[in-house]
Amino acid sequence: MKNTVLTLQKQKEEGNKIAMLTAYDYSTAAIINAAGIETILVGDSLGMTMLGYDDTLPVTMEDMIHHTKAVSKGAPDAFVIADMPFMSYQGSVYDAVMNAGRLVKEGGAQAVKIEGGVEISEEISAIVRASIPVCAHIGMTPQSVNAMGGFKVQGKNVQKARQIIEDAKAVEKAGAFMVVLECVPAALSALITSQLSIPTIGIGAGAGCDGQVLVYQDMLNLFPGHQAKFVKHFGEVGKAMTDAFKAYSDEVKSGAFPAEEHTFKIDEEIIKTLEGEINR
Ligand code: KIV
Repeated sequence: MKNTVLTLQKQKEEGNKIAMLTAYDYSTAAIINAAGIETILVGDSLGMTMLGYDDTLPVTMEDMIHHTKAVSKGAPDAFVIADMPFMSYQGSVYDAVMNAGRLVKEGGAQAVKIEGGVEISEEISAIVRASIPVCAHIGMTPQSVNAMGGFKVQGKNVQKARQIIEDAKAVEKAGAFMVVLECVPAALSALITSQLSIPTIGIGAGAGCDGQVLVYQDMLNLFPGHQAKFVKHFGEVGKAMTDAFKAYSDEVKSGAFPAEEHTFKIDEEIIKTLEGEINR
């Protein structure tokens, strides 16, 4: 059964936590959907995980639509949220509405995610007026990495914490159906969650949120190297893939693959006839 804004809201009201993972392609979306995860985020983190950029800033609307289309096809039950990339909504309210519309109309998303709080309220309201559900994203907002001076925990002093609470209330008032809290101290996220009627989804924001989101490559440990404190590995898929790729390479080189059972047969007489023709 398809998850909707109503089923997600009901989960908050009934105290049932919401699970969200990122996905960027059809087959991963299908696996996540089959696992019963309620929401899939086509994050602009695809700039790093799929396209190899250092941050999300170069990601375009075309990139987002391309990946959202694939995810939507693989997710018959999960509620698909597509990220609005950098500069697709900051220029004007008109841009925000039209680009949100493209993610729904061309990408097949059920909702969009937009970074920012108080300062982006007008854009959120306008997108919601166009009947497109909006998930807001506050706290550490990766598209503001240059303004924030890096990927840092937000809201650690009274003034900054107060600002995040104001952001949370502003996006709810503007009509957002959900809000992602990224890299916010756990006690502050719990306080915000208790003050909002819409679900909060945490990433590096503690257990007091109404749900959690992780980048799927992080939780599967697909890439070696630095990972944020909030990431937990739920599998060692990077190692499993490397082992499988090496085993394949070894078998190709030794001739063990393909074996008899992986090959197609032809009548021997046909081969004899062809050989006769060639040698004539
Ligand atoms: O782009 C993304 O994947 C995100 C999540 C980390 C929340 O915004």
